[in-house]
Amino acid sequence: MSDDLRARLDWLVSELNRHNRLYHEENTPEIPDWEYDRLFRELEALEVAHPALARADSPTRRIGSSPVVELRPFTHEVPMLSLQNGYRREGAELETDEVFGADPFLDLRIFEGWTRGTRGTKDPGRGIRAAMDGEAPPVIAYVVEPKLDGLAMELVYVDGKFVAGGTRGDGDTGEDVSHNLLTLASVPRALRDAPPGRLAVRGEVLFDLRGFERMNNEREARGEKRFENPRNAAAGTMRQLDPELARGRPLMFFAHSSGEKVPGVATHAEMLARFAAMGFAVNPLNRRCLGIEQVIQAVADLESQRADLPYEIDGAVVKVDELALQDALGFVTRSPRWALAFKYPPAKVSTRLNSVLFSVGRTGAVTPVAQLEPVRVGGVTVRNASLHNEHQMARVLGLRVGDTVEIQRAGDVIPEVVRVIPTPSRDSLSPAAYPEACPDCGHALVRELSDPKKPEMVLIRCPNTLACPAQRLAALRHFAARGTMDIEGLGEKLLELLIAQGFVSRPSDIYRLAERRAELVSIDRLGDTSVQNLLDAIEASKSRPLERCLMALGVPSVGESTAKDLARAFRGIEAVMDASVEALDAVPGIAETTAVGIRAFFADPRNREEVERLRSLGVAFVPPAAPASASLGGKTFVLTGTLPTLSRDQAKALIEGAGGKVSGSVSKKTDFLVAGAEAGSKLDRAQELGVAIIDEPGLRALLGEST
Ligand code: IVH
Repeated sequence: MSDDLRARLDWLVSELNRHNRLYHEENTPEIPDWEYDRLFRELEALEVAHPALARADSPTRRIGSSPVVELRPFTHEVPMLSLQNGYRREGAELETDEVFGADPFLDLRIFEGWTRGTRGTKDPGRGIRAAMDGEAPPVIAYVVEPKLDGLAMELVYVDGKFVAGGTRGDGDTGEDVSHNLLTLASVPRALRDAPPGRLAVRGEVLFDLRGFERMNNEREARGEKRFENPRNAAAGTMRQLDPELARGRPLMFFAHSSGEKVPGVATHAEMLARFAAMGFAVNPLNRRCLGIEQVIQAVADLESQRADLPYEIDGAVVKVDELALQDALGFVTRSPRWALAFKYPPAKVSTRLNSVLFSVGRTGAVTPVAQLEPVRVGGVTVRNASLHNEHQMARVLGLRVGDTVEIQRAGDVIPEVVRVIPTPSRDSLSPAAYPEACPDCGHALVRELSDPKKPEMVLIRCPNTLACPAQRLAALRHFAARGTMDIEGLGEKLLELLIAQGFVSRPSDIYRLAERRAELVSIDRLGDTSVQNLLDAIEASKSRPLERCLMALGVPSVGESTAKDLARAFRGIEAVMDASVEALDAVPGIAETTAVGIRAFFADPRNREEVERLRSLGVAFVPPAAPASASLGGKTFVLTGTLPTLSRDQAKALIEGAGGKVSGSVSKKTDFLVAGAEAGSKLDRAQELGVAIIDEPGLRALLGEST
C-alpha cells in the first residue's frame, strides 16, 4: 500500500467534503458539478480497488435521499430501554455522610455491589448480601463510556447493507428517519465484513459543538433564530422531511450498543471493536476497567475532560463487560441491571447580568429573561437564561442589573440563573424591576394571583390580547404549529412578514390568504411555488380534528389531553362552546378551575365570533367519529406482528365491526397494514408497495377511539 495512494485518497476525501460543504452549506461552489463528479468517481474507484483504505468520513458513504411526505413509524424488534441513573454526590446528603464521610461515588459502589457475586443467580440482592457476608467476590470487568447527550437511534442492516434507521420513540416504536441518517458521513451505507442477516446497531446522534456554534452564528446572520441547545437541534434536524437540511449540519453518530446479539462476540468491548471494524464510529474514550476502583478513576477522568470534548456528555455509562454475566443480571422493568448511567452535576458558571428582558407570551404573561455577557457552559455559548417570574427574580435572587450571577445548564432545559455572587460593588447597582407597561404594546400591565394558596406567586400580564403585537404573533404561531393546525411552512418568520404587510392579524385571516394569492406572490421573497405550497398546507389544515382546533384556539389550560377529553365528551364545537361550567366539570379529567376558564373563554363574544369566522371559511372542527357508527367501509386491512393489547381476533372483529375487511396478504389493494412487534415480511412488502403502515393506536384512532 503506497503512501502516495493514501495521500491521494486523503486529499480526495477532504477536497470532496469541502466542496460538499461549500455547495450545500455555504452556497458558494468553487468548482463545476462535472469536476466534482470526476473527483468523486476517482475516489470511488480507489476505494473499490483498496477497500482497506476507505475512510469512515468518505463522501461516497453518503447517498442522496429524497424528501419524505411524512415520518413513518419505526418499530424496534427488541425494545430500546433506558438506563438506571446514579449521581455523583456532593456530600452531606445522607445521614451516614457525617459518620463515614461522604463518598461522591457511592452510587457506583452500590452498583458494583449488585453486580458482584451475581454469577449464576438472578437475584439482584445477592450481590450485596454476598459482599456483607464476606464472601470473596470475583473481580468484574466493566466498560466505562461517555454518556453522550444526543438523540438515541437504531440502525438496521441486513447482510451488511443499511436498511433503515429510526428514533427511540417510546422504546417500542419511534420514527423512521433513514433519509436524514443517510446524510451523515458516520452512518455507513454498507458495512465491512458484517455478519450475514440482521444487525441492529444502536447509538447516539450528536452535534459537533464547534459546528453547532458556527451554524448558530450563520443562522443569526441570516436573521434566523439560534437553536437553544445541540440536543434539541439534533432532534429537530432528524425530524425534518427534507434531508437537504440535515446534510448541511455537523452531526455525527457514535455506536454504543445493540438490541440483539452480535454473532461471535462474548464481551461488550469485543462488540464495540467489531462495530469499529465494520465501519462505525465508536467513541475513543470508552475504557475497559477491572474492578470498581478503576471504574471510579475512569469516570472521574471523563468528567475532567468534559469541558474540552467536541460534543456534549452528561455523565458516564458503566456496563458489565461480559455478555454472559449481563444475561444473568437481566432487567428491572425498563432498564438493564448490568448498566448504570452515572450523571454529573449540571454545569455551572458565572457571568455578568447585562440586563433583564421582559418577554410577552401567547397568553399575555410577562416573564423575565436574563441577558448575560455570553459565556461558555459545557460546550455551548449561553447568552440568556430563565429567571422564571417576579418572585424568583426579585425576592429569591434579589437581582440587580450588573450583578455577577451563577448560571446552570442541565441537558436540554433552558439555562437558569441559580444565584447571585455577592460582590462589594453591588450596593451601587439598581434592582431589576418589572416595567409598568407592556414592553411590546405599552398597555398597562395587570397583576393577578395565579394560585390563591401562594400569594407570592403573582402573574403579571398584558391584558391587551390580540391587539398586543407580541401576543398576536405568539397566538398565530401557536395556531399554525405542528401540534395544533400543523400548517407546514407557516413559521415565525413568514408570520411576521404577513403581519407586517397587513395580511393577517387573527387566525381566521390565514384562511383568507387564498383570496389574496396574487398579492402574496408579489411579496419579495415569496415565489409562485412557495405561495402555492403555503395555500395547499392551509387548505389541508381545514380538516384537523376538533381537539387540535381546540388547542389551536388557545383556550386556557387546554392542552393535548384536556382537548381530547373535551372532543370525546362533546363531539362538536358548538357543544363545547355552549357547555356550562357544570357540564364541563363533569367530564372526567377536567378540573373545576379548567372548566371555569373554558367557559369564560367561550363566553367572550370575540372568541365566539372568531370560531364562526373560521367555520365560515371552511375549518371543519372535525368531531371524533362515534365508535359505534365508525365506518371503515370498504377499506382493506392486513395484520402482522403482535399488537400491544389486542389479539389478532379482537383486532379483526373491531375492523369488521366497523365495516372494514381483513385480508391475509399485502397487495396493492391493501389500504392499511396494522403492524405490531416482530412484524415480519408483510411489513417489508407493505413498505415496498407504499401501503400505509399503522400501529395499534393508529388503528384505534381510525376506529374513532381517540387515544
Ligand atoms: S447503552 C439499555 N451507552 O442514554 C440501554 N446508552 O438512559 C443501553 N446513551 O437512550 C444503552 N450514551 O441512548 C448506552 N454510551 C452509552 C450512551 C447511552 C448515551 C443514552 C441512550 C439511552 C439513554 C439511556
